[in-house]
Amino acid sequence: MKRICIIGISGKLGQYMAQHALDRGFDVVGVCRPESLGKLDRFGDRIKVYPGRTNDRAVIEQAVKGCDGVLTVLAPWGTDDYASGTAKAVLDFAEPGARLIFSCGWHISRDGKDRYSWKLKTFVAVFGKLAKWMRAVDLDDQVRATDMIFASDTAWTVVRGSDLEEGDSEGLPVWSAHVGDPVLASNRTRRTDFALFMVHALTDDRLIHEAPAIVSRLSASARAMAA
Ligand SMILES: NC(=O)c1ccc[n+]([C@@H]2O[C@H](COP(=O)([O-])OP(=O)(O)OC[C@H]3O[C@@H](n4cnc5c(N)ncnc54)[C@H](OP(=O)(O)O)[C@@H]3O)[C@@H](O)[C@H]2O)c1
Repeated sequence: MKRICIIGISGKLGQYMAQHALDRGFDVVGVCRPESLGKLDRFGDRIKVYPGRTNDRAVIEQAVKGCDGVLTVLAPWGTDDYASGTAKAVLDFAEPGARLIFSCGWHISRDGKDRYSWKLKTFVAVFGKLAKWMRAVDLDDQVRATDMIFASDTAWTVVRGSDLEEGDSEGLPVWSAHVGDPVLASNRTRRTDFALFMVHALTDDRLIHEAPAIVSRLSASARAMAA
């Protein structure tokens, strides 16, 4: 793995991923909205940025050229198929054989075998309807995006983040195939470690065609299972 592209590099997760990728010695290119370029000033010329919306197919085609891996922040913004447009552009234009890693939340289910708390179900139902009504966020489009990825024959991994918090790293998160598994009960991960897991997935072939749901390795539930 030499050169990687981060789609959505200026967000919180994107910036953490950029730092972890640089720490590993990768060449880093990224895509971010033109109005967000300033958020990346601290990286200077250590990264190359293509300004554009993440569902802009021409920008994605240019940015992913020659990349061995692509890290995509799947964000369900607006009601114009932003997440599914982003996923489709990455799937269509990434180099054959490139490792493709996508981020989303626990609400995404690959096989319908996840077991959700009433709290998460209520949040998704209420927030999802309200946000769509306000035309701010379309969770259904994030589902369409991940369904498209799951059906793809590319070397994909869909990383499903728990509730996120800021703070120093607690190490590489642990994961399970299904939400509801006891190891995930604590439902918390440091955002920097979500990014660490995304970057780690680029070179861990055991994660190809998996949708790991992650949790901090120092959380109570992860420690209880380790013990
Ligand atoms: N937040 C959570 O608690 C949580 C929990 C589990 C999983 N996740 C997943 O983690 C990933 C990152 O989420 P995050 O909450 O940490 O946010 P984030 O890293 O700050 O990322 C948000 C992304 O969306 C872009 N964005 C913001 N407003 C936009 C708009 N109106 N139109 C288009 N793009 C816009 C941002 O770009 P700009 O820099 O240009 O604004 C950035 O690339 C997502 O895949 C999410 O599903 C989040």
